[in-house]
Amino acid sequence: MNQNTVPLLAAAQQYLNIDHAPFYMPGHKRGQGIDREFMTLMGETMFRLDLPELPELEEAVNEAELLASEAYGSDRAWFLTNGSTCGIQAMLLATCGQGDKVLIGRNCHKAAIAGLVLNGATPIYLPTDYLPEFDLDLGVSPETLEAFLNQHSDAKAVLLVSPNYFGVCGDLAKMAAIAHSFKVPLLVDAAHGAHLGFHPDLPISALQAGADLVVQSTHKVAGSLTQSSILHLQGDRIAAEQVERALQILRSSSPNLLLLISLDVARRQMAIAGKAILTETIRLAQEARIRLNQIPDLRTFDQLQVPNLDPTRLTVMVDHLDITGFDADVYLHSQVDVMAEMPTLTQLVFILSLGNTQDDIDRLIKGFAELVRTKGKSKEEKIKTSINYQLPIPNHQLSITPREAYFAKSDRLPLEQAIGKISAESLCPYPPGIPLLCIGEEITRAVIEILQCILRSGGIINGASDESLETLRVITSFPSKN
Ligand SMILES: Cc1ncc(COP(=O)(O)O)c(C=O)c1O
Repeated sequence: MNQNTVPLLAAAQQYLNIDHAPFYMPGHKRGQGIDREFMTLMGETMFRLDLPELPELEEAVNEAELLASEAYGSDRAWFLTNGSTCGIQAMLLATCGQGDKVLIGRNCHKAAIAGLVLNGATPIYLPTDYLPEFDLDLGVSPETLEAFLNQHSDAKAVLLVSPNYFGVCGDLAKMAAIAHSFKVPLLVDAAHGAHLGFHPDLPISALQAGADLVVQSTHKVAGSLTQSSILHLQGDRIAAEQVERALQILRSSSPNLLLLISLDVARRQMAIAGKAILTETIRLAQEARIRLNQIPDLRTFDQLQVPNLDPTRLTVMVDHLDITGFDADVYLHSQVDVMAEMPTLTQLVFILSLGNTQDDIDRLIKGFAELVRTKGKSKEEKIKTSINYQLPIPNHQLSITPREAYFAKSDRLPLEQAIGKISAESLCPYPPGIPLLCIGEEITRAVIEILQCILRSGGIINGASDESLETLRVITSFPSKN
């Protein structure tokens, strides 16, 4: 196929100048009725292209998806306008249901837990490895996966996250081979991996590793608009029809054309110029690591011997400065106009991608140099960063599935009374959106202490019915099992 073509962009451009009386959705009718201030801000073109799925456009979507499947190396691709969230849930709905087991990395995104509420499957959480010195989640190891598959060979699917927020990809090829040796399909949440496979110095993509279903947030690291993602199918372990059925349930019947076009052009960009673009991104990230390592008390993952680490992801450890990542984030944002992707108790994570420039890197370095010079000055309370931050992974089977927990009777209890009860909500620091407490899990003091510490440090806890965490929603009455 000709990867230089962009069927959706071309079809949309043809519509741009057509003069007709629009009696179809959306209601603003190609901008004619839109709020004037919004129009002035955004420009006319955007609204003229905000079109429904007209027949010519539907054909173009099919063609664009074919081009995407070729470029990313899958057998079938579906464009999504509701993010990887929709793709993760489609993967789970397509492969398992009520009464089925699914093996899931415990570092999964909250979208996966929501997927379990939808499909009713029983999760077997896979513990992840952890590098305390760098507060780094290393993901699920092949050994762990094999041991759990030996115990649960009747699982209907394995769902792993690769890369994770820090760019750790793991040995996915080995894990795909292990899963397949048990005749279990591998689903991969590659929300952070849409650029993988387009440069020899990057870890291989989940599709190259042999995964069966893969979802990529093209919007996170490649050049498409927020909320646009792609779901890919490879091989014949999972029927395309099963995926279609799941998407029928989850997808909007009014996909946003601008998002679809952005997926089309992002695919062309990667297919044609991906290697050159990524060469520069990798260079910028490497330069940043070298210069940051020269600043006293800062550490990056420069010399870290972790295989399959995405070099475009930049993590800066600030724990040796005696401040939290949240403090560093506030300083960089308010004092030097540098915005990170994710602060944690010990780190700041920066996403570098095709849009970053040398000037961005220079500002980042300057900002950190200033931060280190002034560190601790505005700090009233020092948070102990030696806190055991390891994800609290239950080593037992849940007594209740996320779906049962979601529909069980629940009530809000004061924190102290909630400890030891089963949670009726998933609580995660956001970002990264990994529940430290999953719906259906026992509430432990250890996990509450970590969540409170994050909240006190300026982090955001998502999913709590009481944002202060003074009360928690717990299950009060269990559904009968018959
Ligand atoms: C690992 C991971 N998976 C899934 C998602 C959800 O992706 P999206 O925002 O495209 O719905 C995120 C979002 O940050 C994520 O980090």
